[in-house]
Amino acid sequence: MSESVIGKPQRRIDGRLKVSGTARYAADHAMPGMLYAYGVYSTIAKGRILAINDQQAKSMPGVVTILHHGNFPRLHRTPETPMVFAAILSAARLDERRLPFEDDRVSYPGQFVALVVAESFEQARAAAYRVNVDYESAEPVKSLADALRSQGAREGGRGHARGTPEPAFQAAAMRLDVTYSTPVETHNPMEMHATTAWWQDGRLFLYEASQAVTNHRNVLANIFDLPPDRVEVRAPFIGSGFGSKLWPWPHSIATCAAAKVTNRPVQLMLPRAQMFTTVGHRPETLQRMRLATNAQGKLVSIRHESYSSTSTTDAYTEACGGVTKSLYSCANVLVSHKNSPVNRGTPTSMRAPGAAPGLFALESAIDEMALANGMDPLDFRQLNLATRDESVGLPWSSNHLPEAINVAAERIGWRQRNPAIGSMREGDEIIGYGMGACNWDAYQVPTDARVILRADGTALAQCAVQDIGTGTYTIVAQTISQLTGLPMERIEVQLGSSAYPPGAMSGGSWVTASVMPAIAGATRQALNKLREYAVLSGGQFPGADATKLDVQDGYLLNGEQRVSFAEVLGKQRLARAEGNFQSGPAKAGEHSFRSFGVHFVEVRWDPGISRLRVARVVSAIDVGKVVNPLAARNQVEGAIVMGIGMALFEATEHDPRSGLPVNNNFAEYAVPVHADQPEMDITLLDYPDLNLSEFGARGIGEIGVTGLAAAVANAVYHATGKRIRSLPITKEKLMAGL
Ligand code: MOS
Repeated sequence: MSESVIGKPQRRIDGRLKVSGTARYAADHAMPGMLYAYGVYSTIAKGRILAINDQQAKSMPGVVTILHHGNFPRLHRTPETPMVFAAILSAARLDERRLPFEDDRVSYPGQFVALVVAESFEQARAAAYRVNVDYESAEPVKSLADALRSQGAREGGRGHARGTPEPAFQAAAMRLDVTYSTPVETHNPMEMHATTAWWQDGRLFLYEASQAVTNHRNVLANIFDLPPDRVEVRAPFIGSGFGSKLWPWPHSIATCAAAKVTNRPVQLMLPRAQMFTTVGHRPETLQRMRLATNAQGKLVSIRHESYSSTSTTDAYTEACGGVTKSLYSCANVLVSHKNSPVNRGTPTSMRAPGAAPGLFALESAIDEMALANGMDPLDFRQLNLATRDESVGLPWSSNHLPEAINVAAERIGWRQRNPAIGSMREGDEIIGYGMGACNWDAYQVPTDARVILRADGTALAQCAVQDIGTGTYTIVAQTISQLTGLPMERIEVQLGSSAYPPGAMSGGSWVTASVMPAIAGATRQALNKLREYAVLSGGQFPGADATKLDVQDGYLLNGEQRVSFAEVLGKQRLARAEGNFQSGPAKAGEHSFRSFGVHFVEVRWDPGISRLRVARVVSAIDVGKVVNPLAARNQVEGAIVMGIGMALFEATEHDPRSGLPVNNNFAEYAVPVHADQPEMDITLLDYPDLNLSEFGARGIGEIGVTGLAAAVANAVYHATGKRIRSLPITKEKLMAGL
């Protein structure tokens, strides 16, 4: 067998394209004769459009057309694929079911109310500013609290119940009943949403910032009533998405319609302000946690009741208790999820949906419960961790969380800390230590792939998964290199087009686990074809048993003889040996597949100037086999930075009078900058999960963002004695002691 490529640090095969500016993103494609579209966005949160006064705008230079509900082409809604089936390749899912410009209703601020199409971007934008819309404004629902007060909450599904939590709680030695909250957070990937669309011979083509080209294609096929093979969605490069680019949003549909109406290519790039309104966000949550332990500190009752905001048009639910039902061993558990509608755009998945806010609550509450019991939070967790998934009654496929905790604790010096509040000082600063477990689902979902061994000695892979900046291109090449022995530089990888074999969406941290088996299956099929060619009468090994031919370093081996792939094809005058394969979902019913990990955090608090910073993060993560340690570490580092944003900075603020977003820009929506970066020490445990697949990789995109905010909050408590139960942990809250 060839030397192992899987597991060895690999630099990104697309890295040079990215750092040289050669990689082209959705808005980098300029088609001949292309027009530019710019939206007119609602400046009220709720109401009706009375009139669109576009006369002045229409007469401005370069304006081709102005679309709105009065003249927009009639499109079709797409039947809804429920979230649980979102991973199937025929899924046609979107979060905002209402079509753009469907009627005169306004349901959220920033909703598209008109679309100006002009010869240049500047002309379109200038004219959009001159479209005056008369509204009849109604009183909006402006926050989750407002929504709960005025409308109550409705079931959001995916709850869990076992045992008798209430009597167990009442009879317990120690009880905790506290409520946590998290604000609206906005994804804000570097690359704004963009669509470049054109029609040609009844076919629709687009470059789209999409994490799921197959789903996007299926949705547009429904909306424009086309067979799916007449729509081609391309997303070869994406400036990340964090979940906001999973499902199509109104701008994409509107741009395709504008291209149809004008019969010219049209490009739209969403302004940064609209990244906060019309392409999803993580909703607000309120989470009541009730925990109880017996006199030995063993959990006897867990209740996690969460409420999240949704839009008035769609019912998205942030499933905060998804991890709570299984991380700790407990006989009596209740997890519930309810939502309540607010006049905002529809929320959507944001990196570790449910788990990121949910583990802020759970892992903060676990810390509170441990301290109430007079126990070290580490010992409390080790005592209570579940050794199997009690929510489904199955063993874990692979779980090394106890080891992860011990490894990271050792590296940060947890046992050497002084656990007394405010006891560790250095200069003006008080040092605090805190920990939080992280956890995320592991999925393998259906994916098709094609691998072609070419007569020039190279290989080509095609698959309609996306590389959203995570390193998928490289992992596909590694898989082929591993099985063929071809060097990485002789492997070409093509991803991110719905013209390729349908692939999984880049979400749920499942692409690595899903694409590797598909690519491996296709590679093996291509190699088998090659073996058959080699044993043909005109081949190099006529009459030999094809199944006995070994593969090494790009050669077929027949005992002592060897022949390169290129020579096999050359002798037969063939261009290629092609393999196609569809991988299935993970085998259900025998194991519970999850990933595990832990963050330890050191914060430094200067009470004199109320400055708080995260100085150090020590993490140990168990995601099965680590395919590319460079990319994997990079994923965890990025997730830690995002977790610091969640813990200390991020919150989309809405004006309490109007319901409009007020910090919808990078100046006022605070995210961690270079000065906020901590020292990071990341251990990747690297135990292959062979119950999941032959490669044993569970995926690593999301887990790192979970548990981090709780670890920070717990460290803040250690430093300051202040238990902050609402994110973000701002200096104002610390000064007020809220
Ligand atoms: Mo992830 S929130 O599934 O892109």
